[in-house]
Amino acid sequence: MMAENCSNQKGQIMHKAHMAGIGYYVPEKVVTNADLEKIMDTSDEWIRERTGIIERRYVADGENNADMAEKASRKALDHAGCDVQDIDFIIYATLSPDYFFPGSGCLLQDQLGLNGIGALDIRNQCCGFVYGLSIADQYIKTGEYKNILLVGSEVQSRGIDLTTRGRDIAVLFGDGAGAAIISRTDDENRGIINTKLHADGKYIKELWCEDPGSIKNPRLSHEMIDSTSHWPYMNGRYVFKHAATRFPEVINEALEAANINKDDVDLVIPHQANMRITEAVRMRLELPEEKVYSNIHKYGNTTAASIPIAMSEAIAEGLIKEGSLICLAAFGSGFTWASALLRL
Ligand code: ACO
Repeated sequence: MMAENCSNQKGQIMHKAHMAGIGYYVPEKVVTNADLEKIMDTSDEWIRERTGIIERRYVADGENNADMAEKASRKALDHAGCDVQDIDFIIYATLSPDYFFPGSGCLLQDQLGLNGIGALDIRNQCCGFVYGLSIADQYIKTGEYKNILLVGSEVQSRGIDLTTRGRDIAVLFGDGAGAAIISRTDDENRGIINTKLHADGKYIKELWCEDPGSIKNPRLSHEMIDSTSHWPYMNGRYVFKHAATRFPEVINEALEAANINKDDVDLVIPHQANMRITEAVRMRLELPEEKVYSNIHKYGNTTAASIPIAMSEAIAEGLIKEGSLICLAAFGSGFTWASALLRL
């Protein structure tokens, strides 16, 4: 009953949000490092050593971002024991939407038969799921919504240069979707404890996709394609350095704000950027291997989808369960970085 009795500084009733269910979907098509060796000058050894990735999934012809989101959403609904009609708002995080506009949230809403409810698309790249969780948390707290569907879904395989020219980025990314149901709860022992969001736009060009964009007139031109500015660019070493600093910083920020010791966290689930980044973060936080989750070897970097995919697998593997204290953390393009502490 605690949530019903909580009030904010203005004396308004404040509720509590918790993650009631989670699910994921990855396409069937497995693309191994050996498969990439056939289309670009790379090697299984280089990829494994630098990134920890062994294989990733790519969408099939005709399969799209919102299709994967729908499959992940239905699994999350099942896991939550929630009927689709109970959802009263959608938050959709992606950097690879089906269309320039409208957002994929509208496609998903229609596919789920939820026509009429609000659908918010957010573009916070690798931090999209944690940013979305923070938004959902605020809406539930204020009583605006009761059950929010939060999705992270990415079709990276159609937006990367799958030739030797683009190999530094191409080998990293994969496709997939994850979804969570964020619901109002009266259980004082569960729920989202806090979320911490950051960005520094000084670094936009260190990890970005320059074109097409409305800063140019026209927005899309043959020159852009000829110059390859429609492919993503990453300053790999720069990203590595910043990620290795920001991840621990934002995790510690969440822990300190909640007055929680890192040793009391059951599992840290970082955005699956790169095994070496995860390992550097784990070492800086002085955490044992079993406390920092990784599944990047199977899926590569699925951007906004990586945390809900990882969290779903951690639950399936029995690593976390009801009552577990979890810290989610992400870093990505923007630069943006974010964390969330929650008790399942
Ligand atoms: N296969 C084979 N060789 C490659 C590949 C590839 N896929 N990509 C680059 N190389 C070559 C380069 O051309 C270079 O060759 P050269 O020495 O002849 O010039 C050589 O490998 C070394 O390249 P570096 O860029 O110096 O390699 P580095 O050791 O820095 O590793 C990497 C590159 C893995 C990208 C590293 O910088 C890194 O881990 N960065 C973090 C970025 C990251 O993981 N981002 C994830 C996405 S963003 C996010 O989610 C936060």
